[in-house]
Amino acid sequence: MESEGKIVFTEEQEALVVESWSVMKKDSAELGLKLFIKIFEIAPTAKNMFSFLRDSPIPAEQNPKLKAHAMSVFVMCCESAAQLRKTGKVTVRETTLKRLGANHSKYGVVDEHFEVVKYALLETIKETVPEMWSPEMKAAWGQAYDHLVAAIRAEMTPSN
Ligand code: HEM
Repeated sequence: MESEGKIVFTEEQEALVVESWSVMKKDSAELGLKLFIKIFEIAPTAKNMFSFLRDSPIPAEQNPKLKAHAMSVFVMCCESAAQLRKTGKVTVRETTLKRLGANHSKYGVVDEHFEVVKYALLETIKETVPEMWSPEMKAAWGQAYDHLVAAIRAEMTPSN
């Protein structure tokens, strides 16, 4: 939701994100795996973008680095939610956004990939905390993700 250019993200929305994350993160290894299995089901070729999957003899599903990327996505969405509530915009440190934008351009990440990850993220949350899941929770995570991605994309090179 946007009003006079400032995004309105309420305390309740922030709480929906933060509280569900605090439950989910207890089993972060399984969570990371779940997220990536979904991503690769929808977009199998996305595997080729990850150097540690391309170059590794370990089956993708057992690669611990997948967990690390999934954690970055979850944790940064939580930070995004907190920032949105406090300031109405995503204020990840500027250097971090620049690095993330430049790196994701380099890896060949395009809009469709961000859409796939969003879908997989919301499905993973729904399956992990079904008792907490609601349309409001879906909207809160969706917004936190969308604004974070918009901030990363703003730092990506236009050719991608
Ligand atoms: C690497 C975060 C979305 C593909 C990374 C890294 C972080 C990160 C922190 C480590 C490198 C660095 O710090 O620059 C995020 C966040 C995302 C997101 C917060 C969304 C909110 C995506 C999407 C894709 C993707 C949609 C494509 C499906 C990659 C790849 C790497 C990477 C291929 C490099 C892995 C490697 O080979 O080492 N990401 N990412 N990311 N990300 Fe993302």
